Amino acid sequence: MSQNYSEVLLSNINPEKPLPADLFVKVDGKFIKFREKGDPLTTERFDQFISKGVKNLYIASSLIMSFLEWVNESKEKEIEELIQMAGEENRGFFAQEGEVRASVYETFLEQELTNEVVENLQTSVKGFVSNISKNPITAKAIAALADKNSTIADHSISVANLAVYLALVCGHGHQFVLENIYMGSIFHDYGKAKIQAKDLISTDGRLYSQAIQDHPEKSAKMIQKTEGMPPQVINIVLQHHEQFNGHGYPAGLAGEDVYELAQIVSIANVFDNTLKENAKQPVAERVKRAIKVIEYDKGKNWNPKFFPRVTDALRKIEETIIERENQRL
Ligand SMILES: [Fe+2]
Repeated sequence: MSQNYSEVLLSNINPEKPLPADLFVKVDGKFIKFREKGDPLTTERFDQFISKGVKNLYIASSLIMSFLEWVNESKEKEIEELIQMAGEENRGFFAQEGEVRASVYETFLEQELTNEVVENLQTSVKGFVSNISKNPITAKAIAALADKNSTIADHSISVANLAVYLALVCGHGHQFVLENIYMGSIFHDYGKAKIQAKDLISTDGRLYSQAIQDHPEKSAKMIQKTEGMPPQVINIVLQHHEQFNGHGYPAGLAGEDVYELAQIVSIANVFDNTLKENAKQPVAERVKRAIKVIEYDKGKNWNPKFFPRVTDALRKIEETIIERENQRL
């Protein structure tokens, strides 16, 4: 018996949650099952779809309504879980954060960055940031989001949220500055996200390290092509691996020559990367280690002028997480 299939948007699928239906891909006009109902899509697969620019998958048409219900219910459930952790006062923030997240997923899953895609993202980031400058993002909200998914798109969002939180602490309250930090964080590893898996396979690892070395410039080039991308955003992307001591890449800039906003994004990036390592360890331990890493590299990777404001703000996140874990015991 032949079956009809309906398209579903990948950006609607949480890659770490069990799927409510079998999922199919379309190859040469044929539908091929690649995930069973009850299995998660997985982070690795999601990142592969990002690198290939695949934005749609398929399910049996008869299940489309219940699938869409599942999408809505799981989004609502996620927000409720976050509110439970961070408090009712963060409801508005999480609702809007969820919208920006969906918009970032859509952007990353597109094959190409068109002006239209970027404009849509900019609009949702603008709305989100304008609220943040009125009701600053809280340590509690960041702490609740610490254990979110870890696709490359999710990492970008975590960096963006954290960078905006740190920027506020460092005295940047201007809407346009915060927008640039957010957008710069979203795209900081875009070039890496779009490296095809085949380019990462190399017996001596040289290809991979070259790709890593090149990713700030590659990312900057890719976003530069779109209209209306502020030069500040491009500079953040280009300089997010530069270091205060001049040992960074690609240009080896030093001291005050490294763009201040790129430094803030760089701190947020290292923090989130450290947090996502050893994912099985309790989050409180991982946060503690991440703070140690940041502290150790102040004055080397990062301009000492951001300290101790940055570490104080990060400790607030740690305190919230410890408090939450104690309440659970
Ligand atoms: Fe990077």
